[in-house]
Formats: sequence, C-alpha cells, structure tokens
Amino acid sequence: MTSTLVTGISTLVTNDPALGEGPLGLVRDAAVVLDGEHVAWAGPASAAPAADRRHDAQGRAALPGFVDSHSHLLFGGDRTEEFNARMSGRPYSAGGIRTTVAATREASDEELAENLARYLAEARRQGTTTMETKSGYGLTPEQESRALRVAARQTDEVTYLGAHIVAPEYADDPAAYVDLVTGPMLDACAPYARWVDVFCEKGAFDGDQARAILTAGQAKGLTPRVHANQLSYGPGVQLAVELGAASADHCTHLSDADVDALGQSAGTVATLLPGCEFSTRAEYPDARRLLDAGVTVALSTDCNPGSSFTSSMPFCVAVAVREMGMTPDEAVWAATEGGARALRRTDVGRVAPGARADLVLLDAPSHVHLAYRPGVPLVSRVWHRGALLD
Ligand code: NIG
Ligand code: FE
Repeated sequence: MTSTLVTGISTLVTNDPALGEGPLGLVRDAAVVLDGEHVAWAGPASAAPAADRRHDAQGRAALPGFVDSHSHLLFGGDRTEEFNARMSGRPYSAGGIRTTVAATREASDEELAENLARYLAEARRQGTTTMETKSGYGLTPEQESRALRVAARQTDEVTYLGAHIVAPEYADDPAAYVDLVTGPMLDACAPYARWVDVFCEKGAFDGDQARAILTAGQAKGLTPRVHANQLSYGPGVQLAVELGAASADHCTHLSDADVDALGQSAGTVATLLPGCEFSTRAEYPDARRLLDAGVTVALSTDCNPGSSFTSSMPFCVAVAVREMGMTPDEAVWAATEGGARALRRTDVGRVAPGARADLVLLDAPSHVHLAYRPGVPLVSRVWHRGALLD
C-alpha cells in the first residue's frame, strides 16, 4: 500500500473537534496522510509524519468529500418542458413524477446504468464521494427491483422508494398499491437496498400508508428515511422520528411540534434540499430554526429530473447559506458530516485517522469560498478511497 502526504493545505476541515478548532475541527497550515483507502493522519503540517509520496496543495483549502444522502438517479428521459412551464408560472406538483415513470419503464438496464454512472461521475467531479440513490420511477416489482439491482452495482447507499407515488395502474385502488409495495415489491427489492423511503404528502401517501410501508420495510431489515413535509404540513416528520428513521428529508413546512420532535430525537437528521426549492420556486426550509432547536441538519442535492436537477453539493451549500440562514461553517458541516449522520456512517464525512480517504482540494484558501464564490468551479482535486481522480 502506498501512502501520500498531502501538504501545503491552507485550511483543513476535519469535522473532528479533537483535531482542530470548533465543530469543523479546523486546522490551519495542515497536512493529511492517506494510506491506501484510509486516512492515516491529519494535523498541522509542522508535525506531519513521512509518507511514500507527496502532493503539494499549494495553499488550497481541503475538506472531506461531500456526502450526498438523497438523490433519485434511476430514471429515463428528462423534464425540460415541465421546468420551462414552471418558470413561466405553473406550480410544481407530484404529478410530474408520472412523466418520468413512463420514460424509465422504457429504458433498458444498460441505459439506466449508464445514466447513473454519468450522474455519479458528474457529482464526483464536484467533490461528492458518497452518494445515496433511490428507486421510485418504476413502480412495479420488476421495474423497482431492476433499478435497485443497477444501483447496488454502483453505490452502497441504495434506497427502496416503491412508495414514490401510487402507480398509474392502481390510481383507483391505492390500498392495493400499498399491499403491493409492502408485499411482493418489497420482497423483490429488499435484497438490493439498505433503506426504505416513502413520499408522505398529499397526492402521494398519507400517514397511515406511510407507516405501513416503513414498518414493512423495517421487518425486512431496511431502515426508514422519509420524504416529509415538502409541499405542505403533515405527519411525515413526526412519523420519521417515531419510527427511528435515519432522516426526515425536505422539512420545508414544519410546525413547532415537528421541530421539537426532531430536536428531541436521538438519531433522525433533518435533511434539507435547497436545489428543490430553487428549481420549483418554492419557499426554502428554515435551517436556522432547526439549528437553533438543536436539530442535526444535513444538506443534499435531491438530484432528480423533476424537482431538483442538480448534482452539485457546492451549489447547495451556497444556496443554504444565502437563503436558509446557515453560516458557511454550518453548511459545509451539513454537506459532509451531516450527510454521513443521515446515512449513519462514521467512516465518511470527516478527515481523521481511520476514515475513508475521501478528500477534496478547493481552488480557494478556505471552505468559506464555497458560499462566497457561488457557481465557480472551485473543486480542484478529489481523492476517492485513496485514489486521485483525473
Ligand atoms: O424529492 N418529492 C418527491 N420526490 C422528488 C421529486 C421527484 C420528481 O419530481 O420526479 C423530490 O423532490
Ligand atoms: Fe427526493
């Protein structure tokens, strides 16, 4: 195994308060040693141990690879026309999902796999080294399970979202669709997935249906995460907390009781998806309110062809700072360690001994530039599992 000393780092975000200043564990004039697939050492350059090779960061800032804990990358087609219409004033609704379901069912396994590979690579170039993705555009046992089979070959964070909307064939009998999702479809999908998700929303699944779907998934060994309170107030967030979900995602319309529930929960992260409000011209979630209540907040892209067609975590960081009341430090933490918490991972989201060697260098002297210089391609180098990407 070859070790690499990355030195000349102006500011290093470790996310380990034991290694540096504040919650980001910031180290100035820092160095990192990567050994094989893991971080062997991180700290002040003056104390760095020797390594086989040396990479001079030339004064760039470094941070852990982004952890994008929410995306929908198993799809065919796109929804350019819907986006155009929305930007001319038409509102977003869950109904657009049906357009992508039709296109996804037409796509071959190879097309789905190529599409997924393309978006994972696109995200990686922007510093994302861990990415969750979901099914939800197939809505039959065969279609959902083949999508998850494709996903499991490319990422280890795979989520079963058979309950995205009621499949068009079941429009007149949603109860029968819930039976399918909790029965044969779950059986076909569970072997490929780690998580079970449901879109708990008017026009998708109500609280009782969502509970049935999540608990059925739990009985098959999957851990819940929930699309909650995106378009309206509703039971999603409190259900997520009650069932011990890893994450309640969106959290745009929250009552005080929802915020309290998240604040008191032991392990349910609030995952905010600024790309979604950006692309649907909706009101942003209030990250400040959540942070002030002690809630653990993650940021994620929600990359999908309908509500948020961005794979860029730097973009999400910038929007969260500008529009959602987060400080740059809070947003960078939420996009790295926050995402890791939302995926219940301790091996990613930080640059500390033993962590996976996922490291990003920015063409900037500080991580704050991710928000300060919006839209500028600052990601300069990415190490993923110890390998430096081209
Ligand atoms: O997270 N809210 C539900 N699902 C996606 C949107 C999917 C779509 O519009 O295709 C979301 O925003
Ligand atoms: Fe989503």
